Amino acid sequence: MKALITAGGKGTRLRPITHTQNKHLIPVANKRILDYAIEYVSEAGITEVGIITNKNDDEVKNVYGDGSKFGVKLTYIPQDSPRGLADCVRIAEPFIGKEPFVFYLGDNIIVGGIKKFVREFEENGTNCHLVLSKVPDPERFGVPEIEDDRIVRVEEKPSNPKSDFAVTGIYLYDHNIFEAVNNIEMSDRGELEISDAHQYLIDKGMEISYSEITGWWKDTGKPNDLIEANRLVLDSVERKIEGSVDDESIIQGRVNIAKGAKIENSHIRGPVVIGEGVKVIDSYIGPYTSLNRDTHVKNSEVEFSIVMQEVKIYNQNTRLENSILGKNAAIAKSVRKPGANKFIIGENSRVFLL
Ligand code: TTP
Repeated sequence: MKALITAGGKGTRLRPITHTQNKHLIPVANKRILDYAIEYVSEAGITEVGIITNKNDDEVKNVYGDGSKFGVKLTYIPQDSPRGLADCVRIAEPFIGKEPFVFYLGDNIIVGGIKKFVREFEENGTNCHLVLSKVPDPERFGVPEIEDDRIVRVEEKPSNPKSDFAVTGIYLYDHNIFEAVNNIEMSDRGELEISDAHQYLIDKGMEISYSEITGWWKDTGKPNDLIEANRLVLDSVERKIEGSVDDESIIQGRVNIAKGAKIENSHIRGPVVIGEGVKVIDSYIGPYTSLNRDTHVKNSEVEFSIVMQEVKIYNQNTRLENSILGKNAAIAKSVRKPGANKFIIGENSRVFLL
């Protein structure tokens, strides 16, 4: 069994963060999104892993190298342009060969990993195994139509969904998928759709089994999904305090403070993760917040937010909530006259002021 993980795509919905960073490297609970994917396949006992990247994008390769840190062997597969998920499978054929494989969308996070689905696929001996999840908005996803416990049709982003299931970003295939991805047509939005490949398999009489995710699963494609994934992962963080906390500070609940972080005269209410070199001074950090490496928070309140590396938050008298702050961003109170709001913000940034 091999694995194929996507780390390309356009990431338009996560702009401006993705103007300067591949979305798969965005930290959720202070860990890169792609780390979760690689750990899941490694836990499932798979060691040969292909990673789809955008052509000329060395960012992912520079971070993960040969994969030995994760106990896997990584092969990078560049995609000319983001022509769809079925195109990712199509270009991976030389890497996969005849072996069965798991195709995993690298921006998905799923509690408990994928071991269970790999085992079910192997036990079922089907040609394709899809992992489904009940969602409130199936029209955003590939949606299966199920009759007598069998998937009889799969539609991509249907306006009238035939079930309230989404096909999640975990797919298991045998080699027949290559015939499918080589025979489907581009869709109206100019992509080779994975749902069309699944429909091809159904039409050819191939066997498609499925499992339902009972825990949580998150596709981190949009800003709110990222914050929600951060919340879900932080829900199982454990209390561990390695950094320094002075006597004036209060640390409540499951708070993880890394070595080299400093908390002074502050109140931290978990679940919260605080990375190395972070300084929190005269501040409040509320539930479901991650502060990444070398971030400084002074005289401010932050809650329910993802704060990346080297961010500065100073003298905010209104609490920051539901926010994503990219690397090296700064939010400070203006101290000089004239007193006015001043912004230096990039394309597609969003600022909501009270
Ligand atoms: P999507 O989130 O569907 O697409 P995207 O990353 O281009 O984002 P947006 O819609 O915001 O522009 O992609 C799902 C996963 O597949 C994600 O890991 C990116 C990856 N991907 C590729 O690697 N190649 C592709 O051609 C496409 C469409 C996606």
